[in-house]
Amino acid sequence: MAILVTGGAGYIGSHTCVELLNAGMDIVVIDNYYNSKPEALNRVKQITGKDFKFYECDIRDRTGLDKVFDENKIDAVIHFAGLKAVGESCKIPLAYYENNVSGTVTLCQAMADHGCKRMVFSSSATVYGNNKVPYNEEMSTGEVTNPYGRTKYIIEEILKDLYASDNEWSIALLRYFNPIGAHETGLIGEDPNGIPNNLLPYIAQVAVGKLEHLNVFGDDYETPDGTGVRDYIHVSDLAVGHVKAINYITGRTGIDAINLGTGNGFSVLQLVHAFEKACGHKIPYVVAPRRAGDLAYSYANPDKALRLLGFKTERDIDKMCEDTWRWQSNNPNGYDN
Ligand code: NAD
Ligand code: UFG
Repeated sequence: MAILVTGGAGYIGSHTCVELLNAGMDIVVIDNYYNSKPEALNRVKQITGKDFKFYECDIRDRTGLDKVFDENKIDAVIHFAGLKAVGESCKIPLAYYENNVSGTVTLCQAMADHGCKRMVFSSSATVYGNNKVPYNEEMSTGEVTNPYGRTKYIIEEILKDLYASDNEWSIALLRYFNPIGAHETGLIGEDPNGIPNNLLPYIAQVAVGKLEHLNVFGDDYETPDGTGVRDYIHVSDLAVGHVKAINYITGRTGIDAINLGTGNGFSVLQLVHAFEKACGHKIPYVVAPRRAGDLAYSYANPDKALRLLGFKTERDIDKMCEDTWRWQSNNPNGYDN
């Protein structure tokens, strides 16, 4: 019995592979390496001292998926594979719908045909749109402002329809808040292509001297210091949440949306200062105009994750920054070193 991890070479996927292996689970990984490198999986093996099967396979490739299911007894799927850049999704929406939505449909068809009906899906807090914080799972979803977010909303709805049509499925829709940090060994971490879109990878590249300064997107929000507030969650905590979600969906059926966040909000400037403490020097920044589509606040009500999964985050903002700094300073060019 093994857990199939789609997109397992990616940022969250690689950290989750570590936690699954450490929990004694067998894994099979698929990835098309569109946004990741084989070295990430070598490092997962180095950290855990364990081996696993890998297939270079696209989730849209039904023949490739059938081979994976034919050659392995797959108990459940953790589905990370997808495109995730908000700005890019506005420029090439069809690529996002094809990869994320069609890819998930193909994956579910392959799963159903092989009698595998357990899935943990990577959703996002973005589905909450402009609801009032803290976000809870009972709130309405779908008021999303970009095609990337819409793919997450649509996939959630598809999976609800799937469960309604066949109650043998057991599905967890994990709504991540803002994953940051890196494995504490500094061996795996986030390795964005080109100039990072997200805050912490950007700060980390300023800290290491690859970028000149941070642009703070707006200091006139209705927040304590005027900059955007987010719920940052350590990627290793997030990964542990997936192990707990696998345990939760095993031996039961149903579909549940579950927030994975800390419940605490930190502003852009608070994160900058926490990172300065971790790296030991100043992070130069300038205040720039607001970024289109950004909200003042996003943070979770994390109660349901505690209630259903027994999940609670353990790593604080300082640990998130320390671990990011270790990864970034040991691997200034990511996996290309
Ligand atoms: P990532 O890009 O590092 O990982 C995704 C992996 O999927 C990559 O290795 C990529 O090569 C692979 N992939 C993409 N399309 C594929 C396809 N068609 N077939 C096979 N493999 C494919 O991203 P991540 O940050 O690890 O995110 C993982 C998941 O979590 C994504 O679905 C993302 O949308 C979701 N998510 C991420 C965040 C975040 O801030 N990182 C927040 C909320 C949700
Ligand atoms: N920010 C800056 N400068 C930067 C980058 C970001 O000031 O160079 C600010 C943003 O304005 C925002 C905060 O930092 O206030 C966080 O921005 P990120 O881009 O790191 O994260 P977002 O909250 O915008 O979005 C992330 C993911 C989405 C996901 C969402 C909710 O990128 O995919 O969290 O989970 F949908």
